[in-house]
Amino acid sequence: MAARMKMEMEMEINMNMDMNIERKSSIPKIIQVKKLVAKYGDKTVLENINFDINAGEIFMIVGGSGCGKTTLLNHLIGLLWPFSGQILIEEEDLFNVNEERQLSILRKIGVLFQNGALFTSINVHANIGLPLKELTKLPTDAISQIVQNKLKMVGLDINNLELFPAELSGGMRKRVAVARAMALDPKILFLDEPTSGLDPISANEMDTLIVKLSKILGITFIIISHDLISINKIAERVIFLHEGHIIADGNPKEFNQHQNPLVKEFFSREVCL
Ligand SMILES: Nc1ncnc2c1ncn2[C@@H]1O[C@H](COP(=O)(O)OP(=O)(O)O)[C@@H](O)[C@H]1O
Ligand SMILES: [Mg+2]
Repeated sequence: MAARMKMEMEMEINMNMDMNIERKSSIPKIIQVKKLVAKYGDKTVLENINFDINAGEIFMIVGGSGCGKTTLLNHLIGLLWPFSGQILIEEEDLFNVNEERQLSILRKIGVLFQNGALFTSINVHANIGLPLKELTKLPTDAISQIVQNKLKMVGLDINNLELFPAELSGGMRKRVAVARAMALDPKILFLDEPTSGLDPISANEMDTLIVKLSKILGITFIIISHDLISINKIAERVIFLHEGHIIADGNPKEFNQHQNPLVKEFFSREVCL
């Protein structure tokens, strides 16, 4: 009897595993990077990089300084052209389409650069509305409505609309920058070090916001981060770059048990609060 129960349990586990595999493989790949090589002059910075990002995933890119994270990001957002290889966004080759098509692919993407400061001489409203003013033909009142919605989406009160960046806290400035990156309703948001320079409470609020936007709007997040708390708390998938190669790929739990010494060192750092 016990043997039979054990067999049934094992069958159920196997079935669940099969279903998980099936469920995973049915999630569309929103980004595919194939054999990407990046160079500055003669210097190769990324060597044969391959990975896929699932739609709706919170995907983090980690690694030491100078390993190629920003270079990779700049290729994914079309700012740098690959030396060789492909980047597909929703199955379309970003670098093998005409200019018009490329622009419409890039419209699916929002970016918060690491030092993506707000323009200091214009207020919150004008900062968030800038991409709408520059890239759409929407009338002013429609832009205003969208700006207010985006501000609410990042958890800020619309009383802040008339304030200038200098009047905001660091955490609020980052939120406004996220609202600006979301102005054109991107499916994919790239964030370069979104919690760096923030106090632990604001960093935690930023993590909560990212999870909320991912769950409610289904936005795919690609985040460069050194923040162990943030990686452990919100990443669904992590790639670890070292000298232009991916040396580890998995979820944070797997990274915490990883045997590679560089990954071990990165994940066993003391976290300063
Ligand atoms: N514009 C550039 N010209 C030449 N070398 C560069 C340029 N940008 C970055 N590099 C070099 O490429 C390597 C990867 O840089 P980067 O992508 O900025 O790394 P990370 O963001 O991981 O710190 C580094 O050795 C850096 O010095
Ligand atoms: Mg960088």
